[in-house]
Amino acid sequence: MALQFEVLGRFNRARAARLTLPHYQCQTPLFMPVGTQGTIKGLATNQLEEIGCQIILGNTYHLALRPTTELIDELGGLHEFMNWPRALLTDSGGFQMVSLLDLAEITEEGVTFRSPVDGKPMLLTPEQSIRFQNQIGADIIMALDDVVKTTITGPRIEEAMYRTLRWIDRCIKAHEKPDTQNLFGIVQGGLDPVLRDICLRGMVDRDLPGYAIGGLAGGEDKDSFWRVVAQCTASLPEDKPRYVMGVGYPLDIVVCSALGADMYDCVYPTRTARFGTALVPAGVLKLTHNAMADDIRPIDPACACMVCKNYSRAYIHSMVTKDAMGSQLLSYHNLHYMMKLSRDLHSSILHGKFPEFVCKFLQNMVLIFT
Ligand code: GUN
Ligand code: ZN
Repeated sequence: MALQFEVLGRFNRARAARLTLPHYQCQTPLFMPVGTQGTIKGLATNQLEEIGCQIILGNTYHLALRPTTELIDELGGLHEFMNWPRALLTDSGGFQMVSLLDLAEITEEGVTFRSPVDGKPMLLTPEQSIRFQNQIGADIIMALDDVVKTTITGPRIEEAMYRTLRWIDRCIKAHEKPDTQNLFGIVQGGLDPVLRDICLRGMVDRDLPGYAIGGLAGGEDKDSFWRVVAQCTASLPEDKPRYVMGVGYPLDIVVCSALGADMYDCVYPTRTARFGTALVPAGVLKLTHNAMADDIRPIDPACACMVCKNYSRAYIHSMVTKDAMGSQLLSYHNLHYMMKLSRDLHSSILHGKFPEFVCKFLQNMVLIFT
C-alpha cells in the first residue's frame, strides 16, 4: 500500500483525515478538479497550487489517445510532464468511453470502442487500463468498472456489478506498481441495496488501499443518491479513504461528507465557469446577466481569491463569453471556492463545529430560494 490514512477527528459519521500519498500529504474531505488532457483548462499548475488544490484528476482514456501513455512514461510520468508536484489520480477510462461515446460496447473481455482519432476499433481491457495507468504514474489509479446509468433498471445492473467484481481481480493481478501507486476498487450495483451490498463485501474482501462509490450523479433523485452513499459509507472500512465519483455540487459534497465520504471529483466548477457562472455562498452568480454590466463589486466580496481581490463583476461580464480570460478568471474563483469548502469541512469536523458549519452553509444558500 502506498498511502496512509489517519482520521484526525469525527463528528458522528463525518471524518476529517490526513491522507498521505507518494506526492502529497492531503487533508480530507477534499475536492479534486478534473483535467482531462493533463491540464485544468485555462489554469497553470502554479495557480492550482496557489488555490490549494491537493489532487488533480486525469483521464486514462484521453491521455492514452493523446499524447499517449508511452510518451508520458518516456518523459518521466504525468507529474513531470505537466509540472505538477502534488498528487494525481487517474480514472480507468471505461466510464469516459461509455459516457462520451455511444459506440462503446462492453463484453467480458473489456470495453470496445471506435477510436475518435482514426476510427479503428480499440479494446480497453482491465489489464490494458492498469498498464496505461502504471505508465501515467498517478498516486491513485482506478479499477476498470462496468458502469451503467442509475436510471436503467433490470438485469443489466446485476450483470455490471458482477462484472466489476470479476474485473477487479484482473486489475489487481495486472497492477505492477503497488508500492508507488494505490489501486482503488469501485463499488457498483445501481440503486439496489442488495446488489450494492454484494459489491461492497466483494471489494472490502480484496483489502484495497481505498474505495470509490461509483455509478452515481447520473440523473437519479437525491434521495436515492444519498441512500446509496449512506449504505456504502456504513460498510466500507473506517481506516481507508472513500471517494464518491462524479460529485461536485457544493451541497452534495456537504451531505456526502456528513455521511462519511472523503473525496470528490467533478467537472462542474470549471465547466460552469466556461458558461459564465460563478460559485458563491448563496449558490450561483451568472456573470452573463445584464445586471453585471456596471456592477463594480467583486464576484464575492467575502472571497479572498486573486480574482475577487483584483477584478469587478463588470470587468468579467465585459469579456466572459468573448475572451478566454473570462472563463480563466471564473475557473480560478470557482476552484478557490471548492478548495475553501474542503478546508472548512475539514476544520469544522476537526474542531467539533460541523453542525454550525452545515447550518451556516444552508442558511447562506437559502437566499437563492426566497
Ligand atoms: N466517474 C463518475 N462515475 C464513475 C463511475 O461509476 N466509474 C468510473 N470509473 N468513473 C466514474
Ligand atoms: Zn473569488
